[in-house]
Amino acid sequence: MLLEIARVLNAAQLAKINEILDGSEFVDGKLSAGMAARQVKENEELQKEPKRMELLIRILVSSLAHNKMFNSAVLPARMADPIFARYRAGMRYGEHVDDAIMGKSGPRMRSDVSMTLFLSDPGSYQGGELVIRTPFGTSAVKLAAGDAVVYPSSSLHHVAEVTAGERMVALLWVQSHVRDPARRELLFELNQAREHLLSTAPGDNNTRLVDRSFSNLVRMWSDV
Ligand code: NI
Repeated sequence: MLLEIARVLNAAQLAKINEILDGSEFVDGKLSAGMAARQVKENEELQKEPKRMELLIRILVSSLAHNKMFNSAVLPARMADPIFARYRAGMRYGEHVDDAIMGKSGPRMRSDVSMTLFLSDPGSYQGGELVIRTPFGTSAVKLAAGDAVVYPSSSLHHVAEVTAGERMVALLWVQSHVRDPARRELLFELNQAREHLLSTAPGDNNTRLVDRSFSNLVRMWSDV
């Protein structure tokens, strides 16, 4: 499932993140790339300075912790440290699949869900769409600053060349409690029906049945 999540960051969080990034050093993105990605990766990444990273991560993680749609769709168990990437004119990232195992510096984790959080006003740069292959064709995604897209980490994707301006994004990888994307999608939909029933017919026996089925499916399918 490819899902767009609006306003992951509010205006104040977005301004703070961009202010930190404005005064920061960026390095060649190839330095963090695996062997296959190195050949197609042409971007820059924020140099990981511990104090600055801690502040950026705190803003990101607290906004995601409060985001209902993110939590319901992704069922996050753990997250890798985000990467802040900058694409200037002429930069792109050719087709690739994200690394399966993340966390070189900290604890290791499996990437189930990838997230791109857009930080630049889409009117301020040309090109730079995130193009994701899905079973139903390709999707080109370019969102408002503060909005994000999540998609299975197993998807082939690329970033189209930025032809003018500058595209800044945060990239995040999540290990989900539920590894299988089809099961996650089913739980996401069932949870929407469950929440609707809980608010419109809280005492109804059907509500109880759907609520119990949802909880027990999560229990059946999750690893912690
Ligand atoms: Ni990628």
